Amino acid sequence: MSLFSKKNRIKKVFQRARRESWAIGQFNFSSLEQLQGIAQAAKELQTPVICGTSTGEADFFGIEEAVSLIKIINKKEGISLFLNFDHGKEIEKLKDAVDRGYDMIHFDGSHLPLDENIEKTKEIVSYAKKRGVVVEGEISKIYGKSTVSEEKIEQTSLTSMEKIVRFIEETGVDCIALDIGNVHGVYAMSPQLCPARIDSLLEKIACFVVLHGGSGIMKEEMKDIIQRGVVKVNINTELRFSWRESLYGALSAKPEEVVPYNILPAVRNEVCKKVKEKINIFN
Ligand code: 13P
Repeated sequence: MSLFSKKNRIKKVFQRARRESWAIGQFNFSSLEQLQGIAQAAKELQTPVICGTSTGEADFFGIEEAVSLIKIINKKEGISLFLNFDHGKEIEKLKDAVDRGYDMIHFDGSHLPLDENIEKTKEIVSYAKKRGVVVEGEISKIYGKSTVSEEKIEQTSLTSMEKIVRFIEETGVDCIALDIGNVHGVYAMSPQLCPARIDSLLEKIACFVVLHGGSGIMKEEMKDIIQRGVVKVNINTELRFSWRESLYGALSAKPEEVVPYNILPAVRNEVCKKVKEKINIFN
């Protein structure tokens, strides 16, 4: 398969999702049973899925290991798992992910001054495009961490549409992580969302819109967001929560058990259940 057909595959999924008003789920992982649970869900529902690794997740799991395992699982199970490097802040690490076979990378330069973000994003877009890899960019910082927290997250002002359009035009990114008041993680107080920003952006420029911070967003709100044109939704916290609760439950139920394969199937199944629940909302 040529490098360019690889890019076309994930882009075609985005185009189809946009045409048919559904979204592909990105589910982050950092352990094997999480990855197996995601794959099991993709197989049972016969739908493409994006697996995500943040910098911490990629460092723990291994970039080459993630690429190789996903390739093997796709072949063995006859499914389409894609791999995205989520919120990468280091250009060299993202280039490495491109070289080693990630389908997509997300450069998060939202902490940089706009002009510097544009310059760095352009550099990685040029590198990735030559190698058939899709790029997601970010200009507006999406706050919060992928955890469950009791604290209240401060609402911040949203980035102007003019700046976002300028960023997309000048960098040539394929996808944009749009801020609509969303935050990463699940917080005591849910944020106030402005989904109309999706319509405003898509009226001004053609781009694939990504929703970060998918955990904790209610079903009807999520469906509305997708109807407006979001083609990828990122989920991490709710999966981490499923992983933790099921692991704790399985260990507590069998305090003497030391055999991993007697404990971990329950974890894999809970992760799979959560991924299926989300896909059924997105599709
Ligand atoms: P949540 O942790 O809120 O699901 O967000 C995940 C995410 O956006 C990863 O980029």
